[in-house]
Amino acid sequence: MRFETKAVHAGGQPDEATGAIAPPIELSTTFERNASDGQPSHGYSYIRDHNPTQTRLEVALAAIDSAEAALAFGSGMSAAAALFQALPPGSHVLLPDDGYYAVRILASDFFPRWELTHDLISMDEADRVRKALRPGTRAIWCESPSNPLMKIADIAALASIAHAANALLIVDGTFATPALQRPIELGADVVLHSTTKYLGGHSDVQGGSLAFRRRDELFEKTEHVRTIVGGVASPFNSWLVLRGIRTLAPRMRLHCENARAVADFLAKHPRVEAVHYPALPSHPGHEIAARQMSDFGGMLSFRVKGGQGEALAVAAKTKVFTRATSLGGVESLIEHRASSEGPTSRTPANLLRVSVGLEHKDDLIADLQQALE
Ligand SMILES: Cc1ncc(COP(=O)(O)O)c(C=O)c1O
Repeated sequence: MRFETKAVHAGGQPDEATGAIAPPIELSTTFERNASDGQPSHGYSYIRDHNPTQTRLEVALAAIDSAEAALAFGSGMSAAAALFQALPPGSHVLLPDDGYYAVRILASDFFPRWELTHDLISMDEADRVRKALRPGTRAIWCESPSNPLMKIADIAALASIAHAANALLIVDGTFATPALQRPIELGADVVLHSTTKYLGGHSDVQGGSLAFRRRDELFEKTEHVRTIVGGVASPFNSWLVLRGIRTLAPRMRLHCENARAVADFLAKHPRVEAVHYPALPSHPGHEIAARQMSDFGGMLSFRVKGGQGEALAVAAKTKVFTRATSLGGVESLIEHRASSEGPTSRTPANLLRVSVGLEHKDDLIADLQQALE
């Protein structure tokens, strides 16, 4: 079955009790048990373990990422934390030097308590990743495209490097979404999404997901962390993400079309120093991206000639693009990324990150044109 069909149908069987086509939101925190043996009568016991709406979402998450099993979380960060906590104590992890900044903070502030160590490495250079492996490396974690520099990691190459070292390859695929890139099909072991972004798709729900190549020991351990530490998704949030997945494929097509038009415009503008978007042939990861993604996504970043002041001034003038962090909603957002990331930021001071939405591309370009004047 093709991606679009899975995205529309997975986890969407009509409700057994009523025949309803739209999935019910099962808000119950607790479920009836049998009189005879005290066991759950319908497989559900307590909301923090599992709930029926979350189960539907997890069926859909596994299907769209070509995974054997998936887990839904209350946020992308709770998904990331649960996975790290499921690694054996003493593990060494390679993290991307460009990636979602809170993952680096998670590593610096919490890895020592979980007896994990890490190094930051440029994930777009497979040879450097190989050389950075240590005897205790149990996981390579990459983002592709990366946040915010849009670096591209060669997922198949990193999977081979990881597996030769008896390590896992974990891919944060939030920017690409499974509509454009399915890391498990390229050899990855686990895929993370902040479902707060494109999967939810409307800037109105927080969530995270992990899709696992195999329903194996790592899956069981991560699920145990979720159940006991409690980073679960609520039924309503599960329902919203499930609903978002139904329209993911056509939304991504338009995000990509609009982003490409915006990138082409910015690349020719005299006030723009650089555009980071993998569709551009000048992007160092263009060929790998073209191989492993079906299109290049709705995220891009660009550097304004000058410094922080010039970049902030451009963002201050936009009218269609709203100044805000986050991404993946229907509305276009622009963000001075270093300001959002705060004191640990590694992002160039003149960089603006853009989440290209679903407005008409001519209006988006006109807005940037007047902001750059
Ligand atoms: C690439 C990426 N991964 C993970 C996260 C964390 O997700 P959440 O904010 O849902 O915890 C984000 C959030 O912006 C992100 O951009």
